Amino acid sequence: MNFWGKLQKPIFILAPMEGVTDTVFRQIVVSVACPQRQQAGLRSGRGKPHVFFTEFVPVDALLSSGHEKILRSLKFTEVERPIVAQIWGTDPEKFYQVAQMLQKMKFDGIDINMGCPDRNTIKKGACAALIKNPELATEIIEATIRGANNLPVSVKTRIGFGSLDTENWVTTLLQTPISALILHLRTTREMSKVPAHWEEISKAVEIRNKLKSKALIIGNGDVKSRKEASDKCKKYGIDGVMIGRGIFNNIWLFNDAVDIEKVTPQQRVDLLINHLNLFKKTWGDSKHFELMKKFVKCYINNYSNASENRERLMKTKSLDELIRATLLLFAA
Ligand SMILES: Cc1cc2nc3c(=O)[nH]c(=O)nc-3n(C[C@H](O)[C@H](O)[C@H](O)COP(=O)(O)O)c2cc1C
Repeated sequence: MNFWGKLQKPIFILAPMEGVTDTVFRQIVVSVACPQRQQAGLRSGRGKPHVFFTEFVPVDALLSSGHEKILRSLKFTEVERPIVAQIWGTDPEKFYQVAQMLQKMKFDGIDINMGCPDRNTIKKGACAALIKNPELATEIIEATIRGANNLPVSVKTRIGFGSLDTENWVTTLLQTPISALILHLRTTREMSKVPAHWEEISKAVEIRNKLKSKALIIGNGDVKSRKEASDKCKKYGIDGVMIGRGIFNNIWLFNDAVDIEKVTPQQRVDLLINHLNLFKKTWGDSKHFELMKKFVKCYINNYSNASENRERLMKTKSLDELIRATLLLFAA
C-alpha cells in the first residue's frame, strides 16, 4: 500500500501551492509529459512528477457542515496518481477523523502541513507553529497514522521557527513512523526571503540513518529545473526534490525531453487555451475566473511581443472573453 517505497529515485514532486496546483493545473502538467514513455512504463516519473500533492486543506473545515467548498481542493483524477492530500490543523482527534475520510476518498497518501508561515495559521498554533510545539506535532502525526489505516503519512515542514533548528526538529519528526519528510529548507521567519539552506539537508539524512528510520528525505526550496533537482539528490544523498515556483517559468519543467527554449509561442498559447478550457469544464462559475489571470504570465512569456499579448489578456472581463482573446492571439 505504501507508494513511497515503490518510487524510482530520484523522486521529483510538484509542490502543493494553494490557488495554483488544483486538479486542473495538475492535469495540465500531466498533459505535457511524454506519453510514450509513460505508457512504456519507463521510469514512471519521466516527464511527469512522480507524486502530486493537493493544496492544503484545514481539518476543521473538512469536518464542518458547510465543507462543500473545501472539497474542491481535494478533487483529483486518476492521471494525477499517486496523489497525496495535504491537511493542516491543531486537534489530533480531527486529524484522526479526516485521515479516515481521506482513506475512503482513495487518496494514495496523506501529508501534514507543518511549514506554512502564514500569520493566520500561526496564530492558531497550526502549520509552522507546530515546530515550537513538538509534543502536539507528534500527537498529530500519531493520530493521523492511526486514522489513515494503511495509507502512508508524510510531513512537509521547515527547518526551524525563529532560527535554524534542523537537528532537534528533524529528530522529533523521524522518531515517528512517517513515510517521507519534505523539508522546505528555510525557517518560518525567513518566509521565502532568503536562499534555501540546502547544506542543512545533510543533517536530516544523517539523523534518518542514525535512527534507522524508513522515511524518505525530500528537499525543497528554489530549485528551477529537473537537472538541478538531480544534482541536489546526488550531492546531498537525498531521495528526491519537491519543486514549486520553478514551474511558473516552465510548465514543461518535469519533462526533460522538452527544451524550454524550443517551445514555440503557438505551443505556449495552445497550452493556455487547454488550461482555460479545462478550468471552465471543471469549475464552471464556481471559481472566479480572475484566478486564471495569474497563469497568463506562466504561458505567455519568452517571445518578442509576449508582454503586449499579456496586456491584452489581462484586460478581459470574463472567462469566455479571456478564452476568445487567447484564441485570437495568433489567429491573424
Ligand atoms: C502561491 C503558493 C502557495 C503555496 N501553498 C502551499 C500549500 O498549500 N501547502 C504547502 O505545503 N506549501 C505551500 N507553498 C509552499 C511551496 O509548497 C514550497 O514549499 C515553497 O514555494 C518553496 O519551494 P519553491 O522554492 O520550489 O517554490 C506555497 C507556495 C506558493 C508560492
